[in-house]
Amino acid sequence: MIELQHLTKRYDATVAVDDLSFKVEPGHVTGFLGPNGAGKSTTLRLILGLDAPTSGQALVDGRRYASLRKPMFEVGALLDASAVHGGRSAFNHLLCLAATNGIGATRVAEVLELVGLASVARKRVAGFSLGMKQRLGIAAALLGDPGVLLFDEPVNGLDPDGVRWIRDLMRSLAAEGRTVLLSSHLMSEMALTAERIVILGRGRLVAHSTVNELTARYPSLEDAYMALTASSVQFGAAR
Ligand SMILES: Nc1ncnc2c1ncn2[C@@H]1O[C@H](COP(=O)(O)OP(=O)(O)OP(=O)(O)O)[C@@H](O)[C@H]1O
Ligand SMILES: [Mg+2]
Repeated sequence: MIELQHLTKRYDATVAVDDLSFKVEPGHVTGFLGPNGAGKSTTLRLILGLDAPTSGQALVDGRRYASLRKPMFEVGALLDASAVHGGRSAFNHLLCLAATNGIGATRVAEVLELVGLASVARKRVAGFSLGMKQRLGIAAALLGDPGVLLFDEPVNGLDPDGVRWIRDLMRSLAAEGRTVLLSSHLMSEMALTAERIVILGRGRLVAHSTVNELTARYPSLEDAYMALTASSVQFGAAR
């Protein structure tokens, strides 16, 4: 479970995340939506302790990320798939990450198999396509078999097979009882993947609902999103 309590992040005059409070429950995929600059990635960084909140807090299973003793076993995340050391092989990249949490080579081989990269495990990451890097990032997130998973636009760059694969993977991870928070701009895909939806606009919570509730009130999830975010002028309007 993820819980945000009045989470706020300012960068000078920009309020990137503005008094955000909501819970993300285990057992289903929660879609994290909002226009460019709405604060989704910032929120994910705050949950992961990669950035410090200006006020409020983000809790993972009741604790702040910094106080987790073996974070990789509790939270896994893919934020930016291109942020990998290109000189290493996929296997060595994951092995280095795994070693920091006492995870061994067997689990590395397992997650590479799971994401479909076993055949290129010994190839340098520098030669990977964007879709392959996304898969590698997902493998990294899964290393510690964590109960909470955060994915920032993991569908970017994936081919149609890959998009369907992500959908099935997200749903099966949630069905195993994990908490899955997934950001994306692809509404039709999100409607197929997520059960619950959180929508941000200008750093604020615009909607927290189920896909079914939204599609009962609007013709489609995309229509719901357009209507609910219509008044949110983006790009970090200074306030
Ligand atoms: N390190 C930073 N320094 C200054 N401003 C930042 C920083 N990180 C984010 N911002 C600002 O915070 C706001 C929210 O950005 P964020 O990246 O969280 O949005 P997003 O919802 O992830 O958008 P996108 O859909 O484009 O990925 C934007 O106005 C952005 O310019
Ligand atoms: Mg983002």
